[in-house]
Amino acid sequence: MDPVPTDLPTALADVRALLLDTGQLARAVAAGRRRGLEPPPAERVEVRPVQLKNGPHLQFTARTGPVVTTRNVAVAEAGGAVDELLAQPYGNLHVETAREVVQVRITKRGEAQVHRAPAEHAAGPQRHDKAKERLVDPDDPLFRVLGAGGDKRRQVEAFVRQLAPLTPAVLERSGPVVRAVDLGCGNAYLTFAAHRWLGERARETGRELATVGVDVREDVVATGRRAAAEAGLPGLGFAVGSIEGADPFEAATPDVVMALHACDTATDEALARAVRWEAPLVLAAPCCHRDVQRQLVAHGDRSPLVRHAILRERFADVLTDTLRALVLQLLGYRVEVVEFIDSAHTPRNAMIRAVRTGAPQGSRVVELLAELDELTGAWGVEPALARMLAPQLRAVRQAAA
Ligand SMILES: C[S@@+](CC[C@H](N)C(=O)[O-])C[C@H]1O[C@@H](n2cnc3c(N)ncnc32)[C@H](O)[C@@H]1O
Repeated sequence: MDPVPTDLPTALADVRALLLDTGQLARAVAAGRRRGLEPPPAERVEVRPVQLKNGPHLQFTARTGPVVTTRNVAVAEAGGAVDELLAQPYGNLHVETAREVVQVRITKRGEAQVHRAPAEHAAGPQRHDKAKERLVDPDDPLFRVLGAGGDKRRQVEAFVRQLAPLTPAVLERSGPVVRAVDLGCGNAYLTFAAHRWLGERARETGRELATVGVDVREDVVATGRRAAAEAGLPGLGFAVGSIEGADPFEAATPDVVMALHACDTATDEALARAVRWEAPLVLAAPCCHRDVQRQLVAHGDRSPLVRHAILRERFADVLTDTLRALVLQLLGYRVEVVEFIDSAHTPRNAMIRAVRTGAPQGSRVVELLAELDELTGAWGVEPALARMLAPQLRAVRQAAA
């Protein structure tokens, strides 16, 4: 259907009605500037209906460069906020409702070109887009500020995608402040992206998010702090220090522990730290596995599986993550090891997803201990995670004896 020229007040009144019909509204975006006019205060504003504890709200997410601000307005009082938005000289308004998709382009003569398509009509290509809908905006200017390349952006997107289905349960059991920590945050791409995404989910449920990136390197922490200040992201902080001694929220336990490619045993430090915190959700995508690999060298003569360096490396990956999963299971986590991103974007594409459920009971403990002992015995290895959590594992053994 061709766009229909419409006088601007009529088109805006129509958009206003669609935005305030929150039972039907899916999302709306105001973006672009009208030719010949001063640019609007935010480059882009997205409006979505959200259900907060105190009732339905319209959420306005405004983005200018790397700065994102979010405002929730109770639906009953949203008329003023919508009028304020529509009074800004945006060049394009895009509204998706359950029934239709409406696009309004405002010409340089100040007229509106309105294009309408039924939702099911628009849903053809859109449904396809939806399947690939980004959780993390690859064009987020923050990535430019931080200097993340395409592969890193994809890794971060894939990481957040793993976080998404587990988030509702985390939010449900958390208090008014949700706490997330990124251990071995490095350049903090994940820290920022997770903070953006999780922050929006937390705010939708009336909570605040506090995120801390931890790294032993002062320079990367300083860069992270600068970028957080530049972006004006509330609740995001950084701490210099080792993962082992990390205490980002002092007495409080993080609700979400993340680690992306923390080198070698830094992943074990992150997992051990999470276990000691009794963190409800842990997502760790390990990096190299030198600890077990080094120990396997001694077996080179005995098993053809580890005789060739490349095979030893791959086998060490498998063995290390298997042992990590067993240790975490024994210490009260439900564990899945999954491929979180295609190997085209990183060869380090496994992720350990661990959800705290409480210690296993009875024969399951005996089985898990037997599996752990059999593997460590057969390969003559003592994995770093088991060393770090030796007292906890000892307690499990004693209880099972
Ligand atoms: C390979 S980088 C990954 C950084 C980031 N997570 C990413 O994926 O882009 C590993 C980071 O972990 C940090 N790191 C390694 N061992 C650490 C430890 N024991 N405590 C704190 N940070 C550590 C390093 O300084 C480095 O910045």
